[in-house]
Amino acid sequence: MALYSEKVMDHFTHPRNVGIIEDADGVGEVGNARCGDIMKIYLKIKDQTVEDAKFETFGCGSAIASSSMATEMIKGKPLDEVLAVTNQAVAEALDGLPAHKMHCSVLAEEAIKAAVMDYYNKNGIGYDRSLFPD
Ligand code: FES
Ligand code: FES
Repeated sequence: MALYSEKVMDHFTHPRNVGIIEDADGVGEVGNARCGDIMKIYLKIKDQTVEDAKFETFGCGSAIASSSMATEMIKGKPLDEVLAVTNQAVAEALDGLPAHKMHCSVLAEEAIKAAVMDYYNKNGIGYDRSLFPD
């Protein structure tokens, strides 16, 4: 059996939403200090809804596929649904990731949450702290 699903290979070789949003409403950057991998997500938000999402990822193929799928999953979604996107949901949408690559999808969940938190902070919007990782 192939190690990576066709969807992972597709999103790795043809990643969606690569790039930056110059006038982003929220930007989230997370990294794994141990390996040095970095993921940055830019969000355009209007009426509590993600209008556009882009990413820059310095990481492995699974991290790039996770970023690509995660940005596709949150575009057009209201923020409460965006905050409910888990790394497991991203991995499932990719038809699975190898067990030792699940941590790469965690970067996507954390970067999205960091970007929404950045938006809330910039706009003085109160939020439930328990929805966000430390
Ligand atoms: Fe760095 Fe996976 S090895 S996040
Ligand atoms: Fe480092 Fe996947 S992001 S191994």
